Formats: sequence, structure tokens, C-alpha cells
Amino acid sequence: MRATVYCATSLDGFIAREDGGIDWLPTSEGTGEQEDYGYQAFFASVDALVMGRNTYELVRGFGAWPYGDKRVVVLTNRHLELSPEQAETVEVMAGPPLEIVDRLAARGATHLYVDGGKAVQGFLAAGLIDRLILTRVPILLGRGIPLFGPLPHDLAWEHVGTRSFANGLVQSEYRRLGSEPSA
Ligand SMILES: NC(=O)c1ccc[n+]([C@@H]2O[C@H](COP(=O)([O-])OP(=O)(O)OC[C@H]3O[C@@H](n4cnc5c(N)ncnc54)[C@H](OP(=O)(O)O)[C@@H]3O)[C@@H](O)[C@H]2O)c1
Repeated sequence: MRATVYCATSLDGFIAREDGGIDWLPTSEGTGEQEDYGYQAFFASVDALVMGRNTYELVRGFGAWPYGDKRVVVLTNRHLELSPEQAETVEVMAGPPLEIVDRLAARGATHLYVDGGKAVQGFLAAGLIDRLILTRVPILLGRGIPLFGPLPHDLAWEHVGTRSFANGLVQSEYRRLGSEPSA
């Protein structure tokens, strides 16, 4: 199983404001900008998305569901009511990240997209993330929801590449040392 984190952070490492706000992320709305920062190609390469509940709640609030018929696993220890429409592609799981990965691997998944600060931190601490694709937005938020948190030990990464964009975004890809190169 491969698992990738693909997300945008502020220069100081936050993925959202303290209240979950992501208004500081640039949007292409109204600019005619076609750049998607590799998102569609990456999204097409994953079998399932595993996200923390807070991220799910935020995305659900957008209105239009952005993940099509891609399998989405929402991690939560609390009850979550899914609409009949969502229940076709969204399911709820809880437990240690390794158990989640084993359950999805047993169903044939080979590449996961892990999203949400707490969810990512849990998977990183369990040694289950082998690729990071981080897009840095040139802003300092000072406070917010962090992407990274405490780890039981260091995790070392190989720098695969960095691209910069005209709007100031800088995207870097890292592969965990010791993991297999991804396709
Ligand atoms: N900038 C970006 O690219 C980006 C990307 C994604 C998200 N975001 C932002 O990040 C914020 C959310 O991040 P976050 O750190 O607050 O949280 P999160 O990871 O989305 O959600 C945390 C919650 O997920 C559940 N959870 C996580 N791991 C679990 C496990 N192994 N088993 C059971 N439940 C588990 C818990 O829910 P319960 O408390 O219900 O048990 C936990 O409180 C949102 O505001 C969103 O805007 C930004």
C-alpha cells in the first residue's frame, strides 16, 4: 500500500485557520487560470481518500461533492449520518491507521490519499505515509491548524522535486527514505 499526503500549507505550516477557515488558499475562480497543481493527475492515481472528520465536515459544507464516485473513508469515533446518496461512496471507519490500511488493502486498494491534519499526523506517526506533496502558499497565518505534529521518531525524506508557480505557490514532493518509488 502506498499513501500520499497532498495538501497546501501556509509558510508557517498551517492547513487552516484556527476556526478551520481556508479563505487564504488561492482560487482560480474568475482568473481563467487552468493550473491545477497536478491535482487531477494525482487524484486519478488514488484508489481511495482517507480523511479526518473535520476535513469531511468542511468539504460537505461546500455544497457540490468534489470527489465524484471515488471511495472516501471518513475517520471518526463519533456517529456520522450520511445521506443515502453519500452512503454509496462514503464510509466511516475508526481505529489505528494500520487497521484502516489493512482493511482497505484487503479490498484491493493500493494507493491512498490521506487528508486532514489529525488524520495525516496519525498516519505519519504510524509510519504509513510514503509520499508528501506539499504546496506552500506565500502567507504567514501565525496560528491555525497544523499539518504536522509530534512523532515517535524522526522521519527522513528524499526531495523528489520542486516547482514554483507564477502566483507564488511552491510545490515540493518528498518520498520517505526507504519506501519504494511511486509510479
Ligand atoms: N490546506 C489544505 O490543503 C487542507 C487539506 C485538508 C484539510 N484542511 C483543513 O484542515 C482542517 C481539518 O484538520 P484537522 O486537523 O482539524 O482534522 P482532521 O484530520 O480532518 O479531523 C480530525 C478528526 O478525525 C477523526 N480521526 C482522525 N484520525 C482518526 C482515527 N484513526 N480513528 C478515528 N477517528 C479519527 C477524529 O474525529 P472525531 O473527533 O469525530 O473522533 C478527529 O477529531 C479543516 O479545517 C480543513 O479546512 C486543509
